[in-house]
Order: sequence, then C-alpha cells, then structure tokens
Amino acid sequence: MTQRLTIRKPDDWHLHVRDNEMMRAALPWTARHFGRAIMMPNLVPPVRTTADAAAYRERLLAARPPGSDFQPLMPLYLTDHTDPDDVERGFKEGVVAGVKLYPANATTNSAAGVTDYELIRPVLARMEKLGIRFLMHAEEVDPAVDVFDREAVFIERRLIPWTRDYPGLKFIVEHLSSKVGVDYVRSAAPQVGASITPYHLELNRTDWLGWGNKPYNYVMPVIKSEPDRLALRGAATSGEACFFLGTDSAPHSVAKKLAVVGAAGIFNAPVAIETYAKVFEEEGALDRLEAFASLNGPAHYGLPPNEATITLEKSSWTVPEEISVEGPEERALVYRGGETMAWRVVAS
Ligand code: DOR
Ligand code: ZN
Repeated sequence: MTQRLTIRKPDDWHLHVRDNEMMRAALPWTARHFGRAIMMPNLVPPVRTTADAAAYRERLLAARPPGSDFQPLMPLYLTDHTDPDDVERGFKEGVVAGVKLYPANATTNSAAGVTDYELIRPVLARMEKLGIRFLMHAEEVDPAVDVFDREAVFIERRLIPWTRDYPGLKFIVEHLSSKVGVDYVRSAAPQVGASITPYHLELNRTDWLGWGNKPYNYVMPVIKSEPDRLALRGAATSGEACFFLGTDSAPHSVAKKLAVVGAAGIFNAPVAIETYAKVFEEEGALDRLEAFASLNGPAHYGLPPNEATITLEKSSWTVPEEISVEGPEERALVYRGGETMAWRVVAS
C-alpha cells in the first residue's frame, strides 16, 4: 500500500480568502501547499475591473507568509456593465486570468452579478476572440427552479446554447455538484471543464440534513444525493482532463454561518489536499491524484503545470477546530475540525 506520494505542486482553481483580516488569516493555509489559486472576486464591493484586480492582487501578495512564492490568479467579477475593453486590457497586461459569472443573488456576495444575459454577449465574444476563460457559478436562479436542480437547469438553459454560440470560448463549471453535470461536462469536453470540491466528494445531503441541520455543511451549490456524490467521485478520480481541483474553500465568521439566514461556504483550505488524497485512496486511484490536482487545471487554463513538488505521507494528525481572525469576525471553523486526518503533507 502506498505510504508516500510525491506529485507536482497542486493549484486551487477556486478559492475564497476574502479581504483584510480574514484574508490574512485564511491565505497562508493555501499558500503553504498550493502553487497558484484562482482568487474569487465576490468581495464587498466586488473585484469588477482590471484596476480592482490589480489592487486586490497586491493585497494578496502582501498577505503571503514570508518566503512564499504562491501566485494569486485574478478573475474579474462579471456584471451587466462589464466593459470588454477593460477585460482585454487586463488580460493583455497579465493581470486578468478569467471572468467569473455569478448569476445575481445565486450565492454569497452575488447581488452585483448578472441579471440580463443579453447584456454580457459583447464580453463573451471578446473573451472568445482572445482566449480568456469563462468561470461560472453555473446555477439557474429562477425561483421556479428547485434548488437541487439549479445546476442542471443552468446547463440546459444557458451553457448548452453558449457553447454553440461561442465555439472558441473555454468554460469552467465551478464546483460541479451533480451527476447530470458530470455527464454533461464529459460530453462537452474539452470546451467545458469543471472544478470539484473536497466536500462534494465526501458529503451527501443526508450528512447535511439527516441527523440535525448542520449549517456547516451548507454551501452553494447545495450538497446533493448519494448518486450525485458517487458520480463526482468517479469523475474526479478518472484522470479525465476535464475534471480538476477547486476547493471552494470559503471562510465565514461563526456568527455569519449560524445566523437566521446562514452564509453558504465551507472553510476547507487547512485540510484540502489531504482530503482529496483520502478520497483518491478510497477509490484506489492515488496514481491519478496528480492529474486532478496538478495537471488538468493548468491544461484547461492554458498554463504550464508547476515545476515544484509536494510529498504526502500516510501519517495521522488532528485538524485544528478553528482559526482566529483579527477584528470583528473573530474566528472561522475548519472543515473536519478536531478529526484525525490520515494523510499529511511532509514536504512542499
Ligand atoms: O458555498 C459557497 N460559498 N458557494 C459560493 O458560491 C460562494 C461561497 C462564498 O463566497 O462564501
Ligand atoms: Zn466559490
């Protein structure tokens, strides 16, 4: 049985660290094991322009631990009024790594997201022309659509038509969460790729709601059924190039998680690569962890993989319960906090 595994340094193709004190508390957990990460732009206010992205990138670089060469990759937050010329300028300057769609009100800090898909057509056409990646919170927010069907309906109503209208545009379904989604992405690769979180691989909706309401398992897209979870595990561990690592690690203060209307998000960066290793071991696919974690994502984004490596070892440790955060947010609880993890990163 494999006890030690060296792979190219992974990247996180979907990460939230927020700003200010939360950023300073959260970012080091990713910077210690990952080479690069796509830094989600749903700040308050959002990262809408090249100037916003350049400024946020500076703050992220300053929040790295001393000596870290972690690289933040910056997508712009798409709105009804995003200027294609600004996107083009940011991309050509090397600031902008993609454009992220939040349908308005689909999730945390998405109120400024897209309300009218006709208005974004000029941006999509420019992105297609320049080879800029399109990252999507791929959920339909029509109130008539059941929350468990939002991903499937978005694919049907929005994504399938867009793949035809913009054949040269590369899409990313972020945090893929359903069997319908897995089947679709497979059928639409390589134009469409998808990131998969550690918790959509580990949890089903009975874990979330079956033994008391566990607000810490509340995320968007919501955790789905056991057949969905199994399809996601099959996809992630298949080695297929269209599936890659994106933690959606999303810290919130305890107060926000436990409010009457609780915030969606699981802070999993402290256990992310270790959790993926556990899943791949359970599926007998440790030999494919490197493809999922370190090769498929860069290939879909048209970037080279990292040269450096990390080494994981089978050696147990206890996950910290929480991280403390300076200021009013105070603390954020950690996914699997207090539990024993079997895999440990011993060199990175
Ligand atoms: O669970 C989630 N949390 N899903 C998202 O789409 C956003 C994220 C956040 O920002 O907290
Ligand atoms: Zn997210």
